[in-house]
Amino acid sequence: MGNSNSATPTEEKPYHPLVNGMGMVHTAVQNNFETLKNYKDEDTSAAKRKLFCEFSRMALNMLLNHAAAEDSYFFPTLKQKVPELDLSLMEKQHSNLESQLQKVYALYDELEKDLSNTSLLRDKLIPALGELYDATIEHLNAEDAILNAEFFDAHFTVEEQKAMGKVMSNKGKQDMKNSSIEFPLMVYSLDAETRERFFRLLPWILKGFLIPYVWYKSYEPYIPFFYDCPFKTEQKQSNL
Ligand SMILES: [Fe+2]
Ligand SMILES: [Fe+2]
Repeated sequence: MGNSNSATPTEEKPYHPLVNGMGMVHTAVQNNFETLKNYKDEDTSAAKRKLFCEFSRMALNMLLNHAAAEDSYFFPTLKQKVPELDLSLMEKQHSNLESQLQKVYALYDELEKDLSNTSLLRDKLIPALGELYDATIEHLNAEDAILNAEFFDAHFTVEEQKAMGKVMSNKGKQDMKNSSIEFPLMVYSLDAETRERFFRLLPWILKGFLIPYVWYKSYEPYIPFFYDCPFKTEQKQSNL
């Protein structure tokens, strides 16, 4: 018989810091792709396209930097502890994603030289983003299928996972060239429930002061592209 007074499943779940952290980055990357590949380009002004290029680079860098941190630190650390772990598919996917990303960056370079080049944007760049999205989703799913809660329960203590999560998070922060834009981008790339979990990891100074009040002017131009931002007005969304 169902008992509505029993503890909720979330309270009973053991904590998996790495799965939690990786899941949040994967969610942010995936959500930003939804914006990129579905970009409608109805406002063909150079100013709007320039913002789209800038936002895209930040969103794609999140994927590139995440994969680089996995290649340089995370995967070698996992293999050291679990020598039988086969990450060759994921490593191959990383190198394919990187070459696809470089091609997409080259298209952005071209567009930024001539922001009036509508056919480049609509016929080359947006389809290339769609292909990159498909490859990215395939990769994230492959990673989530192997590096899941069961895997970490079997091989790592919660303390070990926390230590690895801290290194990964520091690597992510180092890659942020402009925290006043890129931090809010990460925060507002998440759906409300995932953002709530992410906020629990952040100090008050960031979530209660810097992001909502101090940094607002820096990231305001990109708000129309943010996946889920409380400051996103209907008028701004209609520009997409
Ligand atoms: Fe990952
Ligand atoms: Fe990866």
